[in-house]
Amino acid sequence: MLPGVGQTVRLSPGVVEVEGPRIVAVTEGDIPDRADLGGPGCVICPGFIDAHVHLPQFSVIGRHGLGLLDWLKHHVFPAELTWADPVRAQAHSRATIQRMLGVGTTGFAAYATVHAEGALAALRAAEALGVRAWIGQVLMDQNAPEPMLRPADQLLAETAGLIEAYPPSRDEPLNRVSAAVTPRFAPTCSAELLRGAGELAQAHGCLVQTHLSETQDECRWVAELFDVDRYLDVYREAGLVTGMSVFGHGIYLDAADRVTLDQAGAAVAHCPTANRFLMSGRLDWTDFAGQPMALGSDIGAGYEVAMPRVARAMLENASELRINHPQRPLETLPSAAHAWWQITAGNAAALCWTDCGAISPGMGADLLVLRPIGVSGMNGDQLDLASLLWGWDDRWLEVVMLAGQV
Ligand code: GUN
Ligand code: ZN
Repeated sequence: MLPGVGQTVRLSPGVVEVEGPRIVAVTEGDIPDRADLGGPGCVICPGFIDAHVHLPQFSVIGRHGLGLLDWLKHHVFPAELTWADPVRAQAHSRATIQRMLGVGTTGFAAYATVHAEGALAALRAAEALGVRAWIGQVLMDQNAPEPMLRPADQLLAETAGLIEAYPPSRDEPLNRVSAAVTPRFAPTCSAELLRGAGELAQAHGCLVQTHLSETQDECRWVAELFDVDRYLDVYREAGLVTGMSVFGHGIYLDAADRVTLDQAGAAVAHCPTANRFLMSGRLDWTDFAGQPMALGSDIGAGYEVAMPRVARAMLENASELRINHPQRPLETLPSAAHAWWQITAGNAAALCWTDCGAISPGMGADLLVLRPIGVSGMNGDQLDLASLLWGWDDRWLEVVMLAGQV
């Protein structure tokens, strides 16, 4: 599966050659009968990238029936408190990352918890498993249970220590895990903490990840707490809106907010399954046409680990929205090829990774070999990306390669 023109990908027969951690050659043409991996009947595709996931929340997938703020209080905060034990954090991270690898996710941007040692355990687990990752200690100094709060200066010093241990990778294929700056969301952060987070991220060139405008209750709360008309201004004034920022959700943004994000080069991470699960609202993908976007599972508000199914939810969300806008041309709906691009090259770009997410010489060899069974095209008819995406089955995954290692 090769990058096409613009935000799309295409399928082509051919051979991918890997040497060490990188792809060294891509030859379009006949598929040889004998190959080290793959061969006739297989598809080679870049590993999937999840741009927004919470490692400690895999244990609360499926706690349905509450809105965001009550769900955080009743389910998420108790689960995250268990990471006070770094041994548990390490074991949980390992099991969780293995689960993601099992459905082809080879790279991700993840939230850990407020515990610095737990975040370090997660970084180490990711490094040991060989995935590509940004992982951040969750920063909170207000409006959360007392055992989850720390003074701003302590949190900033702890995250600085994690960045020193796991600095931004600068596209070295074997230096793949980096600490991200991760204020949870404005309500749980003082202005001082947000400002410090902005300074830290800019000083070190780290990814910033946080949540933005996910629910209307949250937006009202932020307006009260920070006395602002625009939620995004809270982050902007803290220096947190840059080309290295990924804002989860962004459902209740207006056109002016979208311009601010676009001018900064900041991405919104659309999380369609989570938005549906928490009844938060619907992001309208067409509002963001041409801007940097990302796509995330947002486990555990999201309930789908496999990125092709998150991509499918993105297409379903867009189709359902069109019911309310029947005058919209059908061509404005995102295509399956765009959705595949988003969970590979598109998410890599949003996470500022320039050497993964696509099959071309020089790219890191984070690759999947799929054997799609029961899909038309594998026995002669034209195989197309829509059949692969809408018919996705985890059992198709035959090989996961990380930096050239199976
Ligand atoms: N907003 C603040 N924290 C969270 C979280 O853990 N999940 C989601 N979906 N939204 C949040
Ligand atoms: Zn989230």
